Amino acid sequence: MNEMLPLPALRISPHALSLSSVDRAALKSQRPRCLWLTGLSGAGKSTLANALEVQLNQRGLHTFVLDGDNLRAGLCRDLGMGADCRRENIRRMAEVARLMVEAGLIVIVAAISPFRAEREAARRLFAEGDFIEVYVSTPLAVCAQRDPKGLYLAARQGRIKDFTGVDSPYEAPLHPECEIDTQVPDMSRACLRLMEFVLKK
Ligand code: ADX
Repeated sequence: MNEMLPLPALRISPHALSLSSVDRAALKSQRPRCLWLTGLSGAGKSTLANALEVQLNQRGLHTFVLDGDNLRAGLCRDLGMGADCRRENIRRMAEVARLMVEAGLIVIVAAISPFRAEREAARRLFAEGDFIEVYVSTPLAVCAQRDPKGLYLAARQGRIKDFTGVDSPYEAPLHPECEIDTQVPDMSRACLRLMEFVLKK
């Protein structure tokens, strides 16, 4: 990865725009926010993000889902699974989420995002109350049992390395705004709980 140059070295002076996130969101009659779903692979983040987006869309709200697997097929396809690459992956997702919130959207991020420090850095990009950390806390044993992509098995057999929960750490949130354990697969109830954060003024 290339070393990042600090802004002054690049001679960049950000341009002040006349419209704000609030102006853009007013046309959509919504308050833009970022819901950040973190948890192990197989915890149910993508399923929950997808179900929530459908519910929000049906209520006429303007949304977008930033899914870790999807972004890694494009914007982040130069990144691996080592700690530095994961940090950069989260930084990019957070910056894209921030731009989308600036555009007036309700953004749902679904990424393992295993490190507390990077999630806290993501939070700092947003105004107070606009970053909602959702811990999808399905336990490791359950995720490994589900193993929807066969990755836990591959990791245990040593065919892939740096796998979260096997030979790469996951730092659970200490004070998430919301915690959801998908062992009881009541998706509509989980969506309702998240919807409350989105609709809160
Ligand atoms: S993150 O740690 O950088 O936030 P992200 O959510 O983008 O991860 O991508 C995780 C997805 O990549 C998993 O859902 C899984 O499908 C896939 N994957 C491939 N290799 C690994 C690995 N070593 N550890 C975790 N996930 C992996």
